[in-house]
Parts: sequence; C-alpha cells; structure tokens
Amino acid sequence: MSGIDSHQFHDLHPDTENFRADVLSGLAQPRKALPPKYFYDARGSELFEAICDLPEYYPTRTELAMMQSSTQDMARRLGPDCLLIEYGAGSGRKTRVLIEALAPAAYVAIDISRTALRQCAAELAAAYPRVKVAAVCADYSRPMDLPQISGIAPRRRAIYFPGSTIGNFTRPDAQAFLRHARELAGAGGAMLVGVDLKKDPARLHAAYNDAQGVTAAFNLNLLTRINHELGGDFDVAAFEHHAFYDPVEGRIEMHLRSLREQRVRIADQIFTFARGETIHTENSCKYSVEEFAQLARAAGFTPEHCWRDPENLFSVHYLTVAA
Ligand code: AVJ
Repeated sequence: MSGIDSHQFHDLHPDTENFRADVLSGLAQPRKALPPKYFYDARGSELFEAICDLPEYYPTRTELAMMQSSTQDMARRLGPDCLLIEYGAGSGRKTRVLIEALAPAAYVAIDISRTALRQCAAELAAAYPRVKVAAVCADYSRPMDLPQISGIAPRRRAIYFPGSTIGNFTRPDAQAFLRHARELAGAGGAMLVGVDLKKDPARLHAAYNDAQGVTAAFNLNLLTRINHELGGDFDVAAFEHHAFYDPVEGRIEMHLRSLREQRVRIADQIFTFARGETIHTENSCKYSVEEFAQLARAAGFTPEHCWRDPENLFSVHYLTVAA
C-alpha cells in the first residue's frame, strides 16, 4: 500500500513493458508489426484525445452518450454494493457517469502504467469520498487474482471495460482475455464491455482516415517515439499512414507504409524496407451484437443485455457469470 492515503495501492510487479525488445523483435519478423500499446507516450496520448474529438471518430462520443442515457438501467442490473473493477486507468467521463449512478462499495483500477494508475486513483478518490478507491498495478490481459481490498464486503464483482479497447485483440486473443475476465469476476460476477459495431465500411474508413490527419499523426508518432527513446533513425516523412477495413477479418488494420526502399538503424540493428512494405501497427476488430455474444458465451459468460445507440454504431454488453 502507498503513502497516498486517498487510496490503496497494490503493486503486483508486472513485467515492465520492454519497448526496445518488442520493437526489435517486431521489426525482425517477415511481416513487420508493432504492438499498439506503444502508441500512448505523452504525445500519443494527446493525439488520441484529439482523435476522440474528431467529427469522423464516432466511438467515444457515442459510448459516452449511451452511458449517460442508459446508466440507470446499467446500475439497476449491476445492483448495489458492487466491487467495480476497471481495466485500464479510467479517470474518464464514462467511468464517472457509471460511478455516480452505481455508488459502488469500492472502485478498483487495474493498469500496467503506474503513473496513469496513481493519477486516476487519486482523482477518483478525491471526487468520490464515499467510494473506497484502490489501484492495482498489473497486466490485466493475463490471468490474475485481486489482492484483498480491506474494509469492504461487496455483493459481487463487476468489471468495466469501455472504449472498445477489446477490439485491439484478435478474436482468439479476445476470447482468452474474456476467459481471464470471467475468472476475475468470479461466481455471480458481471462485466460491462464497450464494443464497436460492424457498419458501413465507408463510415469505418472515415473514422480511421480523418480529414485533418490526426490519426495519421498518431500512427506516425510511433516512429518518432522509436527515434527518441531507442535512438532510431527513421525518416518519418518516408512513411505514410495506411488504414483500411478488411471485411473478411471484420477489422480495421492500421499500417505504416514505406514510401521508398530504405534502411533504418535502431540500436545496432539495421532493418530494410522495400518500397510499399508496411509495419502493421493496430487491429481494431468490429463485432455484430450476436458475434460478440457468442464470443462471450465461449468464454463462459452469459450475455444478459446489450445497449445500442439509435444509429447502431456502438454497443455495450452486460455479461454475467453463473452464481
Ligand atoms: C483505443 C483501441 C479503441 O481502435 O478505435 C483510434 C484506437 N486507433 N484511432 C480504436 C485508435 C486509431 C482505438 N482504441
């Protein structure tokens, strides 16, 4: 536990992210790829915030509006005295809407980033003095146990995973992730998860190819980050943002495409790029309501309810675990 008495802090000492090792191995593959979690350095997080405000990027504002209009229904289904567990450090507006309606016994944020986690926990503890706040530093994509949160006797655990971040997993990985979530929620537990819906490919394409080029800057910032933190010599102007919807995979893929044949040095390693060759930087999987419900069932959840916005852009699933 920490010296900050506003909240309990539990450090499960996750393997710290190894940016260097992940970049070097990702670029050594025959099909070059980098994990999307590395987008979010200070500049990347700023650019992501800007993406959320873009006219073309509907998910954030749609999900927030759904939280606002359906929060009473969500709170009624989850019931009183929940231990609300959020995956990702969400000091965000959606979390606040839910906490205000639900009045949980306690709120626990789980995140691998200690800094983001501390800030989130301190902010929420200050905003909701009647809610016990705890922070757990861990990698929530792996199986984990929750440390004992002292001073509460919750009726059930409820996991909150907004933002359609689950779309970053491939379908098999999303199923494995949901299985871990079901284990953490435990018997009688619940999960509330935000999932972006399949829709007109033109709408999806626009959301990841905005007119102002913010998404392009967000994608390209990964190369700038490699240059700064790993001493790389990427000529960022020699790459372009490439995002497209693959209807067979049901996902947006983001890539960085080399505009010419070139060599890049990172640390003491040289990587060669053919003209047109890409680095795959992100998947963003899109689901129909029924497809996601099937995935949840396969992971041991019972899909109980699904909210959708009037335009059918975004969904929030309410899943339960048998008591
Ligand atoms: C934060 C993973 C949900 O997939 O839409 C936004 C990230 N990438 N624009 C998404 C993102 C490009 C976003 N997630």
